[in-house]
Amino acid sequence: MKLLVTGGAGFIGSAFVRLIAGATEHSVLVLDKLTYAGNLENLAPVARNPRYRFHRGDIADLNGVSQLVADYAPDAIIHFAAESHVDRSILSPEPVFETNLRGTFSLLEAARRHKTPRFLHVSTDEVYGSLEEPHEADETYPLKASSPYSAAKAGSDLLALSYYTTYKMPVVVTRASNNYGPYQFPEKLIPLMISNALEEKPLPIYGDGMQVRDWLYVDDHCRAIFSVLQKGREGEIYNIAGSRSLPNLTVVKEILRITGKPESLLTRVADRPGHDRRYALSSAKLERETGWRPEVPFEQGLVETVEWYRANADWVARVKSGAYRDYYEKNYGSRVSA
Ligand code: NAD
Ligand code: DAU
Repeated sequence: MKLLVTGGAGFIGSAFVRLIAGATEHSVLVLDKLTYAGNLENLAPVARNPRYRFHRGDIADLNGVSQLVADYAPDAIIHFAAESHVDRSILSPEPVFETNLRGTFSLLEAARRHKTPRFLHVSTDEVYGSLEEPHEADETYPLKASSPYSAAKAGSDLLALSYYTTYKMPVVVTRASNNYGPYQFPEKLIPLMISNALEEKPLPIYGDGMQVRDWLYVDDHCRAIFSVLQKGREGEIYNIAGSRSLPNLTVVKEILRITGKPESLLTRVADRPGHDRRYALSSAKLERETGWRPEVPFEQGLVETVEWYRANADWVARVKSGAYRDYYEKNYGSRVSA
């Protein structure tokens, strides 16, 4: 197969490309704008693979995307590209709507025009919003997005599904829980806390730190996406859960334990506006229909992730450029201690 992978230079997209290049004979064309989150170093392990190509472009550019789809004629589009960070979407919502909504629209339109045989839209459990104990969202759970990020993702899910309903386009949607692992940009909880801990900088905990997230190792997520690509039914949604729900404070204390740093680095800061308290989802449907199961236990995945950040201090130093420092100051500088 020829796969067009959008956002393939980001955290999860690059893990997916590395998986495909290593474990299959499929060809991959990555379409990526190389925003602050896109990094060709993430694709260095596949750079010499003759079945891999890279194209720099904006998914919101309908003509450009349509031409690319016409020229490459992919057997499937796997759509990862997004503005993916909730805090940035709160500070600056416009790029979120441009990429997550207009960008998804352009890709769907290009796929419709050129009759792409498969379109897999990668989405998130955030579209279900915050759930009370003991509820878990299945794929029929109502949408209740809280941030500009999750609202745009929910809108893009509905748009993708509308192309199935209206045009009979072969669309499948996946919704995964919080990912962690190597190459994650250090704006998200786990890589930010690891890199701050290794540098002995304060670890900023939003509010009381008792918000709950379900953690999924990135390679488990990619294997699930590949299963859905092969076996998922058209017009369907598949949740992908890590089945490891933990309060943020527990995760961060575990990072301090693994890195051997003191708990005095924990620093309470003002909460995220509209902060979802608890995510929880069931991937029973995915497990039943494809046989997929998460393989990497959280404790093992976290140790391996810490080791990766320790061993890749150069990668971390390069992505924590001037622009990163500006973002950090904007997001954390004005947060008074809670
Ligand atoms: P990321 O921020 O690490 O990477 C996003 C990639 O998209 C980058 O390479 C960036 O350059 C590219 N991109 C952004 N705007 C673009 C545009 N207009 N045109 C082309 N490329 C563009 O994101 P991630 O964490 O790897 O997430 C990938 C996908 O998975 C997203 O759709 C996200 O909503 C979804 N998701 C993420 C998580 C998570 O925990 N990170 C969980 C569930 C779902
Ligand atoms: O649930 C899936 C989603 O997970 C994805 O769709 C998003 O792309 C991804 O960014 C992630 O969203 P979250 O908002 O859950 O992830 P984040 O890493 O930003 O935050 C995780 C939790 O940690 C959340 O409760 C906020 C808290 N947090 C985060 C940061 C960055 C802190 O307490 N301090 C921090 O500095």
